[in-house]
Amino acid sequence: MTVKNIVEEYIGTHPGSQKLHGRAEKVFAADGATHTARILDPFRPYITHARGSRKWDVDGNEYIDYTMGHGALILGHCHPAVVRAVQEQIAKGVHYGDNHELEIEWAELIKSMMPTAERVEFFPCGQEANIMAIRLARIFTGRRKILRFEESYHGWADTVAAPDIPGVVGGEVKAIPGHDLNRVEEELAKKEYAILLVEGGGAHMAGQVPWDADFVRALPDLAHKYGTVWVIDEIVTGFRDAPGGWQSIVGVSPDLTTLGKTIGGGLSVGAVVGRADIMEALNPKTPPERRIIHAGTWNANPLTAAAGIAACKLYRGGEVQKKANQLGAYLRQRGNQAIKQRGINVRLYGRSIVHIYLGPIDYEPSDDTMPPTKDIHKIVNPANVPLRARLCLHLLHRGVSTLGARFFILSAAHTEEDIDQTVKALGDSLNAMIAEGTLNQANLR
Ligand SMILES: Cc1ncc(COP(=O)(O)O)c(C=O)c1O
Repeated sequence: MTVKNIVEEYIGTHPGSQKLHGRAEKVFAADGATHTARILDPFRPYITHARGSRKWDVDGNEYIDYTMGHGALILGHCHPAVVRAVQEQIAKGVHYGDNHELEIEWAELIKSMMPTAERVEFFPCGQEANIMAIRLARIFTGRRKILRFEESYHGWADTVAAPDIPGVVGGEVKAIPGHDLNRVEEELAKKEYAILLVEGGGAHMAGQVPWDADFVRALPDLAHKYGTVWVIDEIVTGFRDAPGGWQSIVGVSPDLTTLGKTIGGGLSVGAVVGRADIMEALNPKTPPERRIIHAGTWNANPLTAAAGIAACKLYRGGEVQKKANQLGAYLRQRGNQAIKQRGINVRLYGRSIVHIYLGPIDYEPSDDTMPPTKDIHKIVNPANVPLRARLCLHLLHRGVSTLGARFFILSAAHTEEDIDQTVKALGDSLNAMIAEGTLNQANLR
């Protein structure tokens, strides 16, 4: 297969998507895409419907879906309980502009799963929850600055984006390398930081660069020693890793936690949960100079609340998370077998989000949730982006949908048959890339 062939073949089997992409390019500036992660050369497929672990495009192509609503759909597409809840609620009203019992039930469910959630506050998306966590921390400490870690993602707005991104005004934000406790203490000791913000699982998406648990366990004492509020962004990991979130696995209790994605059952959502004394700034009885106004048209709207309740009820027992984690383990085991047979520098690691590592294998970890190197530059190597895009296209062509071949996002709706089919598609894709000359050991150094 030549380099030209895969693009031609893909275009040949996606004529309807090509046509829609032509229209999209005229309205959406980002090469026709509505999210940076959905940009792909020549174009991503245009989807008409989805169910369980699968989705279909306008040309009738079927995909095993590993984008899973950017991680929101741990139940898979169209879980019957969520569909029923949304259908029933939409007929009763999507927005009362008022209080309703569903918002309480939803918050109570979240509280019952996450012991650190003394109070709950809802938002329309995850980054808004992070923005509120920062504001709460600022009011609580009387400080302005934000300490966070490189390679983490907390949203695209000024206070939550990496400060060195073009257009970002990040003057109050300091991003430092992870796993350097001395550096963390050096910064915190300045007693300027309102908040220490840590992404659950590691940076990014549940831990492409995973945290050492001991590093994370040392952070709360350090933060509190210097009067900083310690926050974990569990927007991906909350209720994906376990009913208690990733914090329950590591055994830590953040002052505040931000949630999103899974807690809305697939509808857009965010939440801040945590210490009642910190969240007291939202109480109207708080003196005006310490009070936070929280508006937001879509906060805790009944439709999202109905979907969120249906989903959270399913998360409570832990079976959903267990199944997604088991499938992740199966994909890592079968996938790495197929990769090793080909003798190439690629490995799969992670938990229910399985990351694809491309690069030198420094060692074979005994624990396959971990990458085969400790070198962050090898894990997050920008030189691999075109290679990942190529792999993404090959996988799409073989019926497997990923976001830029960075990771496979599992749900409880995937099956072992899905994984077997995926491993075959991955093996065939790697073979094709070796044959066309886009994948060789030289470009994986
Ligand atoms: C760890 C993390 N935090 C925050 C966000 C932002 O959430 P949202 O896109 O819902 O605003 C994301 C989104 O991917 C995320 O992965």
